[in-house]
Amino acid sequence: MRFDIMTLFPETVDYILGQSIIGRAQKSGAIQVFTHNIRDYSEDKHRRVDDTPYGGGKGMLMAAPPIWNCYNAVLRMQAEACFTGMRRVIYLSPAGRVLRQEHARTLATYDSLILLCGHYEGIDERVLEEIVTDYVSIGDYVLTGGELPAMVMIDSISRLVPGVLHNDDSAGDESFENGLLEYPQYTRPPVFLDKEVPEVLLSGHHENIRKWRH
Ligand code: ADE
Repeated sequence: MRFDIMTLFPETVDYILGQSIIGRAQKSGAIQVFTHNIRDYSEDKHRRVDDTPYGGGKGMLMAAPPIWNCYNAVLRMQAEACFTGMRRVIYLSPAGRVLRQEHARTLATYDSLILLCGHYEGIDERVLEEIVTDYVSIGDYVLTGGELPAMVMIDSISRLVPGVLHNDDSAGDESFENGLLEYPQYTRPPVFLDKEVPEVLLSGHHENIRKWRH
């Protein structure tokens, strides 16, 4: 699975997604992550990407041309890599559909997700109309930009991609996958602050353990 992230902060995204399980998944080739700096596609000599909104109002908007140019460059790069898979283009926005596990599972079936991270007060509507297939929110609160939501999405989707987790079963055993929440878990030491590990877990009786966990 391939992720292309259009952002003003590619270094931040590269750094976070280069760590831990998602970093290892990139190294093993289970997923590919490419970041694209929208600013590189500005047509302005000062590399500006924002401008004041028509009709007045507070704050600045991200202008359409750099995003449009960046998007077309991503499509060209995919074509050059002979990448022909099914793709969605996602704009991270608090006005979007709130991400749930089921939605993450559907998105994990695509070959390519192109994520657009906004900043300032938003993005010129015309480029959104042209390129975006899905508007996704990670919750009913407002953040300063789309990078954290994009990384949350990529993390939740990647762990559903075969080969990303050590054991392909382990994504299915966890909270939400069966509409159940994960059970409490324990490791050594057997006693911590006078609290003992539930006896059934030490019994070696697999059926009783399964029932207890359920
Ligand atoms: N951008 C700002 N806030 C957001 C949110 N809650 N979800 C997705 N994108 C956002």
